[in-house]
Amino acid sequence: MNYDFNTCPDRAGSGSLKWERYAGRDVIPMWVADMDFTSAPEIIEALHDRVSHGVFGYTVPPSSTVEAAIAYLRERHGAEVTPEQIVWFPGLVPALNVACRAFVPAGSEVLTCTPVYPPFLSSPEFAGVGLKTVDLMEINGVWEIDFDGLESAVTPNTKLFILCNPHNPVGRVFPRATLERLAEFCCRHGLVLISDEIHCDLVLDDLPHTSGLKLAGPAGPPVLSMFAPSKTFNLAGLACAFVVIPDANTRRVFQKSARGLITEINALGYAGCEAALKFGWPWHREMIQTLRLNRDRVEDFVATSLPGIRTWHLEATYLAWLDARELKLPNAAKFFEDHGVGLSDGVPFGAPQGFLRLNFGCPRSQLDEALARMAKALASR
Ligand SMILES: Cc1ncc(COP(=O)(O)O)c(C=O)c1O
Repeated sequence: MNYDFNTCPDRAGSGSLKWERYAGRDVIPMWVADMDFTSAPEIIEALHDRVSHGVFGYTVPPSSTVEAAIAYLRERHGAEVTPEQIVWFPGLVPALNVACRAFVPAGSEVLTCTPVYPPFLSSPEFAGVGLKTVDLMEINGVWEIDFDGLESAVTPNTKLFILCNPHNPVGRVFPRATLERLAEFCCRHGLVLISDEIHCDLVLDDLPHTSGLKLAGPAGPPVLSMFAPSKTFNLAGLACAFVVIPDANTRRVFQKSARGLITEINALGYAGCEAALKFGWPWHREMIQTLRLNRDRVEDFVATSLPGIRTWHLEATYLAWLDARELKLPNAAKFFEDHGVGLSDGVPFGAPQGFLRLNFGCPRSQLDEALARMAKALASR
């Protein structure tokens, strides 16, 4: 290993959302999707260079960053895009919220599959429009899209489908055939398709990621494919993301809704994004290796040492989805928090009480300590 994934600087007092939640308490934060790894040195160096320039005025997308994004999409995801098809945004959550305002008129609704990343469920509400959800189906331990459920749920008022691709929190890398079927469904019902691909470079198994950009085109639905280096390279605090919208009219409608609300991306955000997409891949290769080992550890530990908890094989992401319903705890997240482990509660993901999400993007020693505390918590019941 050329990079260090065994240690992490103390994040207390650094304004970390993840760590501040439990400041002053002996609780290991294993919740929000932010990794306890230092950034790639190549990215840190590029940020130093940008800081050394010393001028931080309003920033438009530097052409070198745009070229890096285009090369990234071509080389890693087989998609050809042009600079004008890329809309730079300070985050994908604002992009989801703008999309709900842009494509879903009052009285209409959004459709998505649950459980899912909570802003998929809150953005329609914030836009004052409706939401329909269809549960993913578990078939022989694998999470699948329930197409019959979607056909029953969709109405003439449904305007937008939001897909998590790969899926947070179940970690599924949907096969191309499934996504083509979903695109056909969206086309037939006149839905705009959002493909949130923030986790697309965190595929842990040897599986191909199918970008929503492959589903776009004259015969497909209008597609917004959303990307960011923030999960893969742990750069969420730099607030730089990009939405690729191949269709000009769809892009215009989206951009119009963002007018006056969305700021320019900050200069360091572009610098970090560009360095990640150009130079971050050796770090990424080792990081994925680390995550695979952590994923295997979680799957093994849950099966052998956490009776009453179940998990699924995770194909992508560093977020394990746990079913603790058998324990019949009144509040599973609170129970583990009281025993020193801060997990995400499944309820905001649209899951029933008893589901939890565990972030294993951290040094092995931290993961082992969190798992040991969970086992001890169960033994103490
Ligand atoms: C599916 C998904 N989309 C978006 C985000 C957050 O995006 P951003 O930080 O760019 O707003 C996350 C963060 O966990 C996520 O899991």
